Amino acid sequence: MATLAQSTRSHTCGELRRTHAGQTVILKGWVKAWRDHGGCLFIDLRDRYGFTQVVFDYAKAGQTLNEATSIRDEYVLAVEGHVVDRGDNANQNIPTGEIEIAVTRFEILSKAAPLPVQISDKSDANETTRLKHRYLDLRRKPLQDILIMRHQVNQIVRRHLSDNGFLEIETPVLTKSTPEGARDFLVPSRMHGGQFYALPQSPQLFKQILMVSGFDRYFQIVRCFRDEDLRNDRQPEFTQIDCELSFPTEEMIFEIFEDLVVTLWKEIKGIDVPRPFPRMSYDHAMDKYGVDAPDTRFELLLEDVGDLVSDCGFKVFAGTIQNGGMVKAIAVPDPEQKLSRSYIDKNLVPLAGTYGAKGLAWARITADGWKSPIAKFFDADLQSSINERLGASENHVLLFVADKKTVVNAALGNLRKRLATEMGLIAENTYNFVWVHTFPVFDWSEEESRWVSTHHPFTSPRPEDIDKLENDPGNAYAEAYDMVLNGNEIGGGSIRIHRPEIQERVFRALGISDEEARLKFGFLLDALKYGAPPHGGIAFGVDRIIMLLAGTNSIRDVIAFPKTTQGNCLMTEAPSPVDDAQLSELHVKVREKE
Ligand code: AMO
Ligand code: AMP
Repeated sequence: MATLAQSTRSHTCGELRRTHAGQTVILKGWVKAWRDHGGCLFIDLRDRYGFTQVVFDYAKAGQTLNEATSIRDEYVLAVEGHVVDRGDNANQNIPTGEIEIAVTRFEILSKAAPLPVQISDKSDANETTRLKHRYLDLRRKPLQDILIMRHQVNQIVRRHLSDNGFLEIETPVLTKSTPEGARDFLVPSRMHGGQFYALPQSPQLFKQILMVSGFDRYFQIVRCFRDEDLRNDRQPEFTQIDCELSFPTEEMIFEIFEDLVVTLWKEIKGIDVPRPFPRMSYDHAMDKYGVDAPDTRFELLLEDVGDLVSDCGFKVFAGTIQNGGMVKAIAVPDPEQKLSRSYIDKNLVPLAGTYGAKGLAWARITADGWKSPIAKFFDADLQSSINERLGASENHVLLFVADKKTVVNAALGNLRKRLATEMGLIAENTYNFVWVHTFPVFDWSEEESRWVSTHHPFTSPRPEDIDKLENDPGNAYAEAYDMVLNGNEIGGGSIRIHRPEIQERVFRALGISDEEARLKFGFLLDALKYGAPPHGGIAFGVDRIIMLLAGTNSIRDVIAFPKTTQGNCLMTEAPSPVDDAQLSELHVKVREKE
C-alpha cells in the first residue's frame, strides 16, 4: 500500500460537505488546533481553502493511532478516513461543519517547533516578530485573503486591458534613472567600473518610447523602486499598473481608466461605482480641501476669510494678510461639545504645528456669539459675516490658521481629515472617486531655490500655457491628472510632451542645461525627433488600490514580503554587508560610516 506521503490528497480542507458522507478521503494540511478528549483526539486540519475537523478515535483503533498524541500545533499531516455526517452536531459557522473525518490512517509529514507567533485571525504579536517570521504570519487567513484578492486584481487588470487593445510589454529593471522626484537605488556595474545602473522609479521613458515605436497601447504590472522616506502607504519597492496610449485626449484616458477601476470594484467588491467620476481642478482642490488628494466623503471645506479679517483687531490675522499671507477656516459641527479647549490644545494645535502652523485659533458659536480667547477682537457683525462665509451656526467650532498659503492649506487640509475621522463624519463603505486635473507644471522648491516638476518633466503643459514656460512658469498648467479615492492618490498621469523642442524648453525651465539634458535624456530627445505620436498615460499604485479594497491602513498588509519603514526586510535581514571580494569586483570601496 502506498504511503499517504506518496498519495495525492483527494480533497482540500475546505471542500467536504454532507454529500460526501461515507466516502474515503485523503486530506493534507496543517494542525490549526487540537483537543484531546481522553481516547479521542479532535484536530482542525487547515490549508488555504479552509479547515476540516478530523477525529482520531485512538482508543477504538488501537496501536496505529497512538502516535497521534504527539501531534502539536502546525504539524503537517496526511490523514485518510471516512467522511462522517455530524447530524445534529453540525457546526453551522464553518463551511465544512456538516462533516468530520474518522481517521483510519495518518502520517506526520512535518513537525513544527513551538511557534514564536500564534496563527490566528487577530494576531497580538508585535509587528517585528511577525515580519521576522513572515512565513508564519502569511498563514493567517486575513493576510491570505488579501494576497488572494491581489492575485484576482492582477488577473482582472490583465484581462480588461488586454480586451481593450493594450499589450503587456516588459521594460528593463537595470536601467538609467528616470526622475519621479525620489532618490534612485543604484546598482554598480562589474564590467564598467565606476558606472551604475539605476533601478527604475517608473518605466516612464520606456513606455513613451514604445509609443514612438508604434505599439499604440501598452501596459505592465511593474515593480518600481524609490529611495524615499517611507510611510504607511509607501514602500521602497511597490507595484504600478503602468499604461500608455497613442493619440489620446484627456477625455479618452478618463473614460478608459474609470472603466478599469469600476470593473475592479464591481468584480472584487460587488459595488457599482457611479460614472463619470466627478472632476476637480488642482486649484479648487487646494482652495477648498487644502490638499491635492481631496477626500470628498465629508464637507468641512476650507474657506478664505482673509478679506473679512484684514483689518480686525486680532493682530495675528490682520498682520498675516498685510504681509501677503492668508487666513482660512473650517467649521466643525460639534453639538456634543467634544472639541473642548483642552482637546484642541492637546490634539489639534500640535497636529497643525507639524505642518508649520504657528498657532490654531478657534471659536465656538453659541447663542450669545463666539466663545473664544479671541472673541473680543471680533464684533458681532464681523462674527456673523465669518459664520456666514463658513455656513456655520450655533454649536459649530471654527478653526483658523493664518500663515503663508502652503502652511494654511497643509495644516487645515490635514486637520480636516483628522476631525472627520474623530467626529465620525465618514460613512463606512463609501468610495468617492474624483479626478484631480490641471496641475501646475512646476512647484517652487524652497530647498533648491528652483522650479521642480509637479508631476515629472515629460508632462505636457497645456497648449495655451507653453509660452509661460519662460515668462511665467509659476502660472503654467499641465495636462496632468490624478485619480483620487477617499483622499488617497491611487493613480497619476498626463499627456506627454511629444515635440523635442518643447521638451528642451521644459528642461531649461527646470534649470537643466542642454548638456545635462543630452547626457541624461539624449535617447528620449533623439526618439522624439523621429516621428513621435502624441501620447499620454497613467500609472496606478497597485498596493494602494489593494489597501483600499481590503480596508487596511498599512501597505505592509498587502505585500507578501514588505519592508519596514526603515527599509529593512526583517526576514532575510536585507540590506546586509557583502564580502570584500564582491565589493572589489564591483570596484566599490565602502567608507567608514560617519
Ligand atoms: P506617480 O509617481 O504619481 O506617477 O506614481 C503613480 C502611482 O504609484 C503609487 N506610488 C506608490 N505606491 C507605494 N509606494 C510608493 N513609494 C509609491 N509612489 C507612488 C501612487 C501613485 O499614484 N510615471 C508616472 C505615471 C505617469 O505619468 O504615467 C508615475 O510614476 O498610487
Ligand atoms: P496669541 O496671541 O499668540 O496668544 O494667540 C492667540 C490665539 O491665536 C491662540 O489660540 C493661538 O493658537 C492662535 N494663533 C496664534 N498664531 C496663529 C496663527 N498663525 N494662525 C492661527 N491662529 C494663531
